[in-house]
Amino acid sequence: MRLCAAKNTVFCTMLLRIRDLARIVHMIIAPSILTADLSNLAESCKEAVDARLDRLHLDVMDGNFVPNMTFGPPVIKSLRNALPDHVIFDAHLMITNAEDCYMDYIDAGCNHLSVHVEAATHLHRLVTAIRDAGATVGVVLNPATSLDAITEILPEIDLVLVMSVNPGFGGQSFILSVEGKIRRLKSLIDEQVENGGRPVQIQIDGGIKAHNIATVGEWGVSNCVVGSGLFNDKGTVKENLAILQTALEV
Ligand code: DX5
Ligand code: ZN
Repeated sequence: MRLCAAKNTVFCTMLLRIRDLARIVHMIIAPSILTADLSNLAESCKEAVDARLDRLHLDVMDGNFVPNMTFGPPVIKSLRNALPDHVIFDAHLMITNAEDCYMDYIDAGCNHLSVHVEAATHLHRLVTAIRDAGATVGVVLNPATSLDAITEILPEIDLVLVMSVNPGFGGQSFILSVEGKIRRLKSLIDEQVENGGRPVQIQIDGGIKAHNIATVGEWGVSNCVVGSGLFNDKGTVKENLAILQTALEV
């Protein structure tokens, strides 16, 4: 009996040591509802919110900047009315005319707008206008867009969204070459913070699954958009989220 208790103690100590070695990468997971059941959008969003995912990533596509169309301010407004107030609406505007219509998205209830650097003529003016209207603001870089495109605006924004797929569709494969861009961006932000500047968040979007979510965390990403990794026919959002969370325990 005493031997058994001693064995148990050794076993528990070993487990604790293993657990101490494990590190949990802190990561915001923002569900993208593109691969959810769009005929039942509010229910899909509620499934994510019930899983305690309270930052919804809303992919707005205009069929012009990207070859696909999704939804706009009226649908977002309906979702806002259907969901609890604490839920953050993070709109990813894949549209050519954000400079004309950003206000419609804020009026519809978006808390955060991310705009593509490739689609804005006067980026600084747009970023300032979004902030003045009361939302937080992010700038998005396509996979082929250089970091140079945002270095001047970095002190003024809350988030950089690095696309790890070409925008337009859910369920695409992750583009590995974004690693260098993310690592360089992380260094720029660290330097900015050391000099008293804004702690800009790095968000990544496209192809994030259990096999790479911890890796991008190591590169400096603290906010992952996840679409088909959460909304798929393999499991519920809660079940798929548990798999992602386990993957973050590295
Ligand atoms: C792509 C969208 C993404 C996409 C992510 O244009 O911006 O948000 O839905 O979906 P997955 O995670 O399936 O790549
Ligand atoms: Zn997106």
